Amino acid sequence: MDKNVDERIVISVRNLSKAYGKRQILTNISFDVYKSETLVIIGKSGTGKSQILRHIIGLIKPDKGDILIYGKSIVKASKKELEDLRKKMGMVFQENALFDFMTVEENIAFPLREALHLDEEEIEKRINMTLEMVDLNPEDVRKKSPAELSGGMKKRVAIARTIAMEPEILLYDEPTTGLDPVTSDKINTIIRSMQTKLNVTSIVVTHDMKSANKIADRIIYIDKTSEDTGAKIMFIGTPETLAIEADKNLRLKAFIEGVYDPEAIVLKKKEYEEKYSEKIDLDVFKK
Ligand SMILES: Nc1ncnc2c1ncn2[C@@H]1O[C@H](COP(=O)(O)OP(=O)(O)OP(=O)(O)O)[C@@H](O)[C@H]1O
Ligand SMILES: [Mg+2]
Repeated sequence: MDKNVDERIVISVRNLSKAYGKRQILTNISFDVYKSETLVIIGKSGTGKSQILRHIIGLIKPDKGDILIYGKSIVKASKKELEDLRKKMGMVFQENALFDFMTVEENIAFPLREALHLDEEEIEKRINMTLEMVDLNPEDVRKKSPAELSGGMKKRVAIARTIAMEPEILLYDEPTTGLDPVTSDKINTIIRSMQTKLNVTSIVVTHDMKSANKIADRIIYIDKTSEDTGAKIMFIGTPETLAIEADKNLRLKAFIEGVYDPEAIVLKKKEYEEKYSEKIDLDVFKK
């Protein structure tokens, strides 16, 4: 390991840029994730949040920049190194990525058997334990195919399958999207307890500000200033400082509060300017 690497850093994303054809998606994205931290990435649909996670697990190569996992480049890793790094990481995909031709129990068992080579007794234990963790009754769902489950149940099976691997690093892409508020809260509690009980380092992509505030140690907000530029990091900090920053940056405020109507933002601009007795400079009004 590089002597200059801070050993508390588990994931280091450095100057990551990515374009597809002429379309710039990500521009100079840099951030570190510390051991046992839960970092939440927020941003509008299509800004590149899933792309960041896919780069981190080595599914996509960046055009520029590097990604270090425990100080080792996943971009430059050999096939064998990539396999070893991947074993430390689990990802809950936005689209779940469950195998429809397998039952729920086979979906969970598959990576435990093929990648971790666990014995059948341990696999059996983990199937039941993780399904219960995500509030699914093993007896009801084990033999079902994913096609027989509701959207929220599929999401929970996908989470169970990833958690069952007991990875040191967990990446969740929209883990609560499509879930009712109570189940969302349950999932957030699980994400939190993976951190506090098992010291897992996590990155969670979400649109859901309530979840973000509940689980995040730090939050990253990504946004693009025009259609031609890729997304950049506009904010990185704690949930508390996000709230303070949002009072100054109404584009961020609009995202957090889910305000679409520019009129409503203008009203808020006036309201905040009065409140803080200062002019707010905001490019959203130029658009
Ligand atoms: N293989 C690809 N080829 C071309 N463009 C792609 C490819 N994959 C992703 N993109 C583009 O990259 C951009 C970012 O996609 P990404 O899925 O990361 O967005 P997101 O922030 O996760 O959005 P959402 O919140 O809707 O999930 C999108 O505009 C998408 O069309
Ligand atoms: Mg996405």
